[in-house]
Formats: sequence, structure tokens, C-alpha cells
Amino acid sequence: METTLLSSKKEDILKAGEIIKNGGLVAIPTETVYGLAANALDGEAVKHIFEAKGRPSDNPLIVHISKFSQIKSIAKEIPESAKLLAEKFWPGPLTIILNKLDIIPEETSGGLNTVAIRLPKSEIARAVIDASGCPIAAPSANLSGKPSPTKFSHVVEDLNGRVDAILDGGDCEVGVESTVITLANGAPKILRPGGVSLEEIREVLPSVKLDKAVFEHISTGEKVSSPGMKYTHYAPKAEITIVDSSPDVFYQFVNNKAKNVAALCFDEDIGHIKVPCVSYGKRYDSELQARELFTALHKLDELKEKIVFARIPRRTGVGSAVYNRLIRAAGFRKIVPDDRFIIGLTGPTGSGKSESANELKALGYGVVDADKVSKMPGVYDKACIDELKCEFGDDIEENGKLNRRKLSENAFSHPSGKERLEKIVFPRILVKLNEEIQREYDEGKRIIAIDGPTLFEAGLDKYCARIAVVTAPSEIRLERIIKRDNISEELALKRMNAQKSESFFISRADFVLDGGKDIESLKEETRKMIREINKDLERSM
Ligand code: TXA
Ligand code: MG
Repeated sequence: METTLLSSKKEDILKAGEIIKNGGLVAIPTETVYGLAANALDGEAVKHIFEAKGRPSDNPLIVHISKFSQIKSIAKEIPESAKLLAEKFWPGPLTIILNKLDIIPEETSGGLNTVAIRLPKSEIARAVIDASGCPIAAPSANLSGKPSPTKFSHVVEDLNGRVDAILDGGDCEVGVESTVITLANGAPKILRPGGVSLEEIREVLPSVKLDKAVFEHISTGEKVSSPGMKYTHYAPKAEITIVDSSPDVFYQFVNNKAKNVAALCFDEDIGHIKVPCVSYGKRYDSELQARELFTALHKLDELKEKIVFARIPRRTGVGSAVYNRLIRAAGFRKIVPDDRFIIGLTGPTGSGKSESANELKALGYGVVDADKVSKMPGVYDKACIDELKCEFGDDIEENGKLNRRKLSENAFSHPSGKERLEKIVFPRILVKLNEEIQREYDEGKRIIAIDGPTLFEAGLDKYCARIAVVTAPSEIRLERIIKRDNISEELALKRMNAQKSESFFISRADFVLDGGKDIESLKEETRKMIREINKDLERSM
């Protein structure tokens, strides 16, 4: 078949609409990934989608509409929850499953009595729907089992010669597919995480649940809520294994491998890795990872290395969609290469971090207090004090000993003082810290937390496989600091302002623990986090 390549100009959009109206197939851009579109009401046309993709016929398609009012002509009833979701997230990367009307043919619904509906944000997609005059069935425009296409070139690679036309709309903005939520039978349940996060949906529907198959492998024969969950997905040619570890452990692990392996990593990792690597974004930027992941999987196909080890993404926000796609691309292979599993426990001063650390200790886990380590005599040896005197004045030494109060006064009164202080002491603290971690490990502790307010500034996050952030409202923190350290409000505020903002901490967290309430609830949140980590460790090879 000859495939026409179309642009996003108006006449080409009309052409695309015309092809679809006449029963043909056109690959079109959406804000999530490219979709392979046909008239959703035309069973014969839809059959051709399955043929072109090589898709199992029991895997239903999403029906795309361009206006909310069109939902009435395809769904039986529209519950209040659907209206709430649509109001908040449409147009956008959310697909809502409802009971279907008979007008939806069984080819589209994969024989189910429900229909998945989405109103995309992409103006090109909506213009094509309008031009075709019908709702559009569109799965991702890849060959079945391959990574979804987020660029025009990806679609051409998979479908040129197999479809009537491919419309070039540039790169997709979100990069992972829509979130799929069912409202068809009782309680709302997310079947696939995607462009809209679980946290965002929870704000509208607090009772929403996550289907078991989102992160776990479903064995053959087990019942699934969404047929798509049981098939191999997103698989590049290489065999991927997710490595659940800190960046540092990851570097040692891949660098010690024999030749023929490659790494799927983050931008920050590149200089540390000696094997060929492909990045899928920045460590703490889940939106970027979502945008880059499928492109990275496509790039892996160009490498000759057929064994790939991947850095684990965070699972907060859109990160849960990134993880969901990557664990499938990896065929659910995941390893924890180091017997020590380090958690970075951090947060602004006065947040209640130490209470969380105490709970970890009480539960028998290891805790290394980075603050305490930083004050160990071994850190401030003569060479260190001499260097500090050069930077901050001779009066930081008193009778041959460090005057801590003076040092912090002198250092914090200069704009660049903090940075200069850290440059001198951090490397020395690191040596001590490693000794303390090893001591905990030798005592039989496998999960060990580094409790440190300046985890990121000190670069200690490089040694952490998870980041837990304890937060509390700033008024509460101020009060606590004044009381705890017996200092003036002015000095307390100065200390608070010298730290990173709360949003900085949260944007890097795997777990956010609320330290603003009573101690008991913070302890419970700490225990919940540990349960989740233990579950993760059990599930890995
Ligand atoms: O972002 C997206 O959703 C993209 C763009 C093109 O809109 N489309 C997309 O479609 O990802 P597809 O077919 O690759 O994935 C649709 C998923 C499949 O896992 C399918 O099993 C599930 O949604 N699904 C569709 N209809 C369903 C239904 N009635 N009940 C349960 N799951 C359904
Ligand atoms: Mg797909």
C-alpha cells in the first residue's frame, strides 16, 4: 500500500478527515503519542487498524471525540464522576471507560460492553476528528508490542506502507499515553497510569484505586480489567533490566559488567558510566522522562548492545506512568544489586525528620545522622581547621579547638559563606559517613537511612536509592526551631531561609511524609514507607 505523508496544514487535515470518513486509516499526532485513526463506528475500518498494527483483536480501542457533548452518542449513562473528571482534565491525556451504546461496534470495544473515551488536547487531533465527522478509534500508532511513537519518524518506521496516510504534527508534548480510568462498574479504578497523575485524579475522586496490574506482572490466565495489560508492551530489541539502586551503586554495577551491555540512564549519570548509554531525561524531572522515554527506547534499538540496564524512575506524579512503561519494556525484570539499600531522609529544618528517623531506628533499621557525623572530631582535624581559618578568620579557633558557634556566625554572614564552608567540610564528612553506613551494615542492617538536612547540597543523594522528605508548615517549623535550639526568632528565620524551599525538597522525593501533624501519624507514615520499600525489595530478583 502507498502511504501518503501529510503535513498539519489545513488542507492536509481535511484530507485526513476525508480518508477516515471513507473507511481508511490515518496516523495522527495527539498530545500523548501518535494514534492510528479510523472511524470508530465502522467495524470494517476498525478491523484494518488491528491488521496494520498486528494487534490482538480482543484488545479494545480508545474512542476519541472533539467535544464533550459527543459522549452522549456513544456512552449509555454519564455518571457525575465522569463529568467531574471531564471538567478538570478534558481536553487532555485522560481516558474514561463507561458502559457503551450499541452504536459502538464490537470491533472497537474488543467485544466488551464498555467503551473507552478520550477528548485529546491536541488541536490537530481534534481538527481531524471534526474533519472526519465521526468519533475516531485510535490505538497508539506502533506495531503491536513495540514502543509507542512520540515522533513522526517513529510512525513512519513502523507503519509506512501499512496505512493510508501519516500526518506529521511534530513531537508529542506529553510522551506517554493517556491515563485510563474505568467508571463502568462501581468504584473508580485506574487501569493504566498516564499523562494525568494519580495524585491529580485523587483530588477530584478521593476514592480512586489503582489496578493491581499497573505495577505487577499478571500471570497467564489471570483475569485482567483491561485486555491491554496482559500483552507484551513497549519492547525494544534489547533485553532491559531495571536496576533498583542509588546512582552510585548503578555506576559500579554497570561499569563492572563485561562488554556488550548498555545503560538507560539519566542526564546526570552520563559522565559516570563507561558503557554506551542513552538518557531518558533528568533524575528528578518526571515530565521530561515521560517525554523522552519512548525516544530513548527507539534509540536503544540503534545500539548493538543487546543487554541494557536501566536506572529506576521515581513513581510520583507522571513518574508512575514512566515506571509502568519501563517495567513492561523490561518484561518485569528488576534487580537490586547491592545488599545495602540507602534511603535519604531529608527535609527543611524543624519538619520532624528526627522523629521519623527515631521510628526507623525503633523498627530495627539503620540510621546515620549526617549532622552528627559532620560534627565528629575526625572531620575537623588540624588540616581542616587551618583551611577554615583561612576562609573565615582566626577567631573560629579557640584554645586549639573549633568554636562552632563562631564558625556558623562567620560563615552564614557572607552570601557565599555557606558554599565555601561546604566545599571544605563535605568531602571529609563523606569519608566518615561511609564508615558509619558500613558500621550499621556490619550490625546486620540492610535498609539504612541517611538523616541529613543538606542531603542534596552535599551530593549525598547520589548514594540514595530512595528519597524521603519530611515537611511541615513554616510557622510550625519556626516555633519548633526556636524552642529546640533556644535561639532568637531572627536567627531561626535566618537558618530557615538559608535552606532550600519546601517545594525543592518535594520535587525530589519518592516519599513525602507529613511532619506537621502529631508524632504518631508521622510514625505511621514512616512505617507505611518502609512497608512499600520492603515490598519492592521482595519483588526484585
Ligand atoms: O494516549 C493514548 O491513550 C493513545 C492516544 C493515541 O490517544 N492511545 C492509546 O491507545 O494508548 P492504546 O490502544 O495503545 O491503549 C489503550 C488501552 C489498552 O491497554 C486497552 O486495553 C485499554 O486502553 N482499553 C481500551 N478500551 C477499554 C475498555 N473498554 N475496557 C478496559 N480497557 C480498555
Ligand atoms: Mg498502545
